[in-house]
Amino acid sequence: MKRVAVLASGRGSNLQALIEAEASGELGATLALVVVDRANTGASARAAAAGIPTATLPPRDFADRAAWDRALADLLVEAGIEIVVCAGFERILGPAVLTRFASRILNTHPSLLPAFAGGLHAPADAIRHGVKVSGCTVHLVTAELDAGPIVVQRAVAVHDDDTAESLAERIRHEEHRALPRAVRWLAEDRIVVDGRRTRILPPPAPTASELAAAAHG
Ligand code: GRF
Repeated sequence: MKRVAVLASGRGSNLQALIEAEASGELGATLALVVVDRANTGASARAAAAGIPTATLPPRDFADRAAWDRALADLLVEAGIEIVVCAGFERILGPAVLTRFASRILNTHPSLLPAFAGGLHAPADAIRHGVKVSGCTVHLVTAELDAGPIVVQRAVAVHDDDTAESLAERIRHEEHRALPRAVRWLAEDRIVVDGRRTRILPPPAPTASELAAAAHG
């Protein structure tokens, strides 16, 4: 199975969804590494509880952004990582990581892109703008922030009494379903990119040994 690194900065509920998907066999990939950019995040606690190795890479420990980016790329390569998932990671990836993992990086963003791109406060921006529908977008990461090809989107209604927090919570719930699914598709090489558009190939046919195992229940 492909080895996945999850990059996170916050409470790590999306990481938790990935951990649970792996445990139930729905991820189709192995969570091999969690990278956080600050100490004591909820994400690192969740990784520790699940027994996933964690690395902490605070940018201030590096001379500049390029040095941090190279250190991150080296860390991922040394860990044998094949897929990178930004799950609430509040840093922009640089060329070292983007080049090494081109078309192998997913990000989840709490809006229906291209609306409310490029910020940490998309649910608040959606409330302020008065939209009636928002949601989440899982997309491939390219050099342009929040602009890579879209893999999956899930919509949520914006309620009249929503706050940024209540909307963010409802969006997160959808991210928890969308992100593991997208990771599985990428791990199974099922995401075909055609310009800005993606399409998802059907699941691979079961192997003879999988069919035999299923038959013997
Ligand atoms: C998610 O909504 C993500 O889209 C945004 O930050 C949130 C992270 O939540 N960038 P969590 O840390 O996974 O709980």
